[in-house]
Amino acid sequence: MKAIRIHQNGGPEVLKWEDHQLPPLKAGEARIKHSAISLNFSDINVRRGGFYIANPLQFPVVLGNEGAGVVAEIAPDVTNVKVGDRVAYVGSGGPFYENTGSYAEERNLPARVLVKLPDGISEQVAAAIMLKGLTASMVINRVYKPKKGDKVLIHAAASGVGLLLVQWCKHLGATVLGTVGSQDKAWLVAANGCDHPILYRETDFVAEVKKIVPGGVHAVLDGVGKDTFLPSLDVMRPFATICNYGNASGHPDPLDLLLLAKKGSLLVSRPAFSTHIADPTDYKVACDEMFQLVISGAIKVDLSKTYALKDVAQAHRDLEDRKTMGSVVLIP
Ligand SMILES: NC(=O)c1ccc[n+]([C@@H]2O[C@H](COP(=O)([O-])OP(=O)(O)OC[C@H]3O[C@@H](n4cnc5c(N)ncnc54)[C@H](OP(=O)(O)O)[C@@H]3O)[C@@H](O)[C@H]2O)c1
Repeated sequence: MKAIRIHQNGGPEVLKWEDHQLPPLKAGEARIKHSAISLNFSDINVRRGGFYIANPLQFPVVLGNEGAGVVAEIAPDVTNVKVGDRVAYVGSGGPFYENTGSYAEERNLPARVLVKLPDGISEQVAAAIMLKGLTASMVINRVYKPKKGDKVLIHAAASGVGLLLVQWCKHLGATVLGTVGSQDKAWLVAANGCDHPILYRETDFVAEVKKIVPGGVHAVLDGVGKDTFLPSLDVMRPFATICNYGNASGHPDPLDLLLLAKKGSLLVSRPAFSTHIADPTDYKVACDEMFQLVISGAIKVDLSKTYALKDVAQAHRDLEDRKTMGSVVLIP
């Protein structure tokens, strides 16, 4: 079978479409034939190297942590799935960035990480929402759940996680302000429930937010990090919450805790989705809620932009150049 492998860290040019062999299944494992594979910003971080990785990578490495497809084979002791089941997964149970392998036609995985897909959730939709939707679920359920009428600022509102957060916050009755990098993204987020798109590459988002919500927002949901985290403290009302869940522009500078007191007794959180779903019951509850939000139509997943897996280098370039919108799915 074929896979996208890297033999060294570097730019998108290190991504190679090559023959790849999987070992026989070990006890507890299932082989999944991918029909859709997720593209995540973290794939770029792993490709570039140095990101959260404790142990040196053993090249060649197949990138990717997330996908969906059909169970092709199971080890004799596996009981939670059977051949032919439609399933999805995010991560493989071990350290996230060191246990990759999704950029491939097939993959062996511990069967316990596989989630059966309900009718109404296609494999492509599942690949689009497992990590990104569970991250949104973590932000909403663990850090900050908007009440009706709350004002929420979402950075990179047209990103994979951002677009899901916009719809989820709107569904809960919030007024949503969203920063975006282009006019096309502004139109997209507006069509998905963002009340106030803000073009933060052209205008000062702090001044814009202050104009729209002079008293400050109830929460800032920030997947951009370095460029947005500190300035965001200036648009928050007293005791508001800032959740920095991502770092598309780099890690935010270290935070002086006293600044939180000076800026209005603010609450800050930096969560990782793996904690959110570490308990298998929590994982199931979170997936069920997310799938129901999609099935009910409260959250829509736009699959208009997909790339062939073998063209993933172009997908990486587009993601790094901030050209993508919503979730991007790779088709093997
Ligand atoms: N905490 C967790 O467990 C967790 C889970 C999932 C994802 N994440 C992280 O959350 C962040 C967002 O993920 P995502 O899937 O929503 O993002 P995404 O779809 O990959 O999009 C990232 C967006 O960030 C914006 N951006 C701002 N500065 C950028 C820069 N210097 N380079 C590239 N993009 C930049 C761009 O939007 P504009 O053009 O609109 O600015 C870009 O489209 C990532 O850092 C990801 O690693 C964290």
